[in-house]
Amino acid sequence: MTSSDIVWQYSSITRAQREQLNNHRSAVVWFTGLSGSGKSSVARAVEARLFQQACRSFVLDGDNVRHGLCSDLGFAPAERSENIRRAAEAARLFSEAGMIVLAAFISPFRADRERARALLPAGDFLEVYCRCSVAACEERDVKGLYRRARAGEIADFTGISSPYEEPTRAELVLDTCSIGVEEAARRVLDLLREHGVIA
Ligand code: PPS
Repeated sequence: MTSSDIVWQYSSITRAQREQLNNHRSAVVWFTGLSGSGKSSVARAVEARLFQQACRSFVLDGDNVRHGLCSDLGFAPAERSENIRRAAEAARLFSEAGMIVLAAFISPFRADRERARALLPAGDFLEVYCRCSVAACEERDVKGLYRRARAGEIADFTGISSPYEEPTRAELVLDTCSIGVEEAARRVLDLLREHGVIA
């Protein structure tokens, strides 16, 4: 089968109609940062706040997506790129369905994040960098993964044996080493207001 055998099917419901029903725009908030930098915690806190405001949101979390959609992928660079490609495609579908997607992936490679950005209409992809040093993440080591990586039990561990390319054009930088989860979530909500996603 060639791609010319596959024809795009359009929905009879427009994006504008979905947004009108929801009372907010759809968007993808893309959290990136080291393991243990607070991506998931902040995404969950944002989700809770949006829910309280009757906004439709959903967290796509690396740990969870790797249990299903990406369970065949490991952490070598090419596998991470494929992981982010699939995650970005899923985020795009969710956003087409009218959701505010909160995607929390290490997504260590700039090119992969740029590809994810390019999948969406301009202004719909908001990159949020959870900035926290390797030393601070390692000190917290909530999951014990840094200790195991240092012991050589986990290969290709981000920040130790695999690179993390810092964002250069993030819409928001959260210094998650020094600010708490609730303050970080508040700033993300401000970002969503600034970009006209929520009122
Ligand atoms: S990536 O780089 O975007 O493809 O990674 P992601 O899908 O976000 O998955 C990150 C979670 O996987 C766990 N884990 C590892 N992280 C980094 N490097 C290695 N080698 C690794 N092995 C397992 C870890 O729990 C990550 O979750 P977070 O929430 O980031 O700590």
